[in-house]
Amino acid sequence: MMLEENTITCGDAFDLLRKVEDESVDLIVCDGPYGVTQNEWDKVPSIQDFNLNLIKRFSTKLKEGGALYLFGKQDCIDFIDYRPYLNLKTKIVWYQPSRLAQGRWSYTNNYDVICFFIKGKRPNRFNLDDIRVAQLVELEHRLRCERVPSVTDGKYGKTKFNELGKNPGDVWGDIKQLTYKSKELVSRDTLNTIQKPEKLIERLVLASSSPGDLVLDPFAGVGTCPVICKRNDRRFLAFEMNPEFVAAGLSRLEELDRGQNILRFANVS
Ligand SMILES: C[S@@+](CC[C@H](N)C(=O)[O-])C[C@H]1O[C@@H](n2cnc3c(N)ncnc32)[C@H](O)[C@@H]1O
Repeated sequence: MMLEENTITCGDAFDLLRKVEDESVDLIVCDGPYGVTQNEWDKVPSIQDFNLNLIKRFSTKLKEGGALYLFGKQDCIDFIDYRPYLNLKTKIVWYQPSRLAQGRWSYTNNYDVICFFIKGKRPNRFNLDDIRVAQLVELEHRLRCERVPSVTDGKYGKTKFNELGKNPGDVWGDIKQLTYKSKELVSRDTLNTIQKPEKLIERLVLASSSPGDLVLDPFAGVGTCPVICKRNDRRFLAFEMNPEFVAAGLSRLEELDRGQNILRFANVS
């Protein structure tokens, strides 16, 4: 069976991954098990071993210079040696200060990590201008810095103050988790453990792929990454084992075809 592009295939990610052509993928967005919830699919004996296994498999599927974003908790790649397979460029902290659960015996965890890996030394893509964020610097300070010769005439020109904004850095506090009131939420059941904000996934896709590139989402949930890929003219391969989530994701994709942004809930339980 050939894998169909630009749709969500229902099945087990590990089985389907075998069918992906080696060295064909530009970007992998992997928002799979974290090993922390009571969902059956999230119960893995060791999240580190699970992730190392994924990293090995992904490394054969990525093109040289291709990128992987791996989601997890702070210890998700601790004490495993991923270096023979991929290079870790950045551990992005997705900061969520409004988390309601409060730790009683230790500090409340207020972030997820998104591990940004590259196959080889240099990424094929890093479309910084597509993901710049507002630069909140006082005008007076800015003007003073702009007059410094190393900034105006330096090797990198005016890199410190770019009118388009700045590099988002590696701590992202500007993208909020979805809430019950979020318009893009597919169902209350997908809050927190499943659905990610479109803005978060869009930053990854825009930074590390270009139109026409092939993006792989092996744990597609309710289809956030496929929706972003379709909206931004990326080709995609997406896998999800829960048929109801697949239906919800396909319905989101269809709504894009009809030019609607409003989501209709496809009976997720
Ligand atoms: C964190 S959710 C992904 C959410 C997605 N990013 C979104 O915004 O909708 C992880 C998903 O992986 C799916 N999953 C877990 N193990 C899987 C496997 N072996 N094969 C396919 N899907 C799997 C789960 O059903 C779940 O929907």
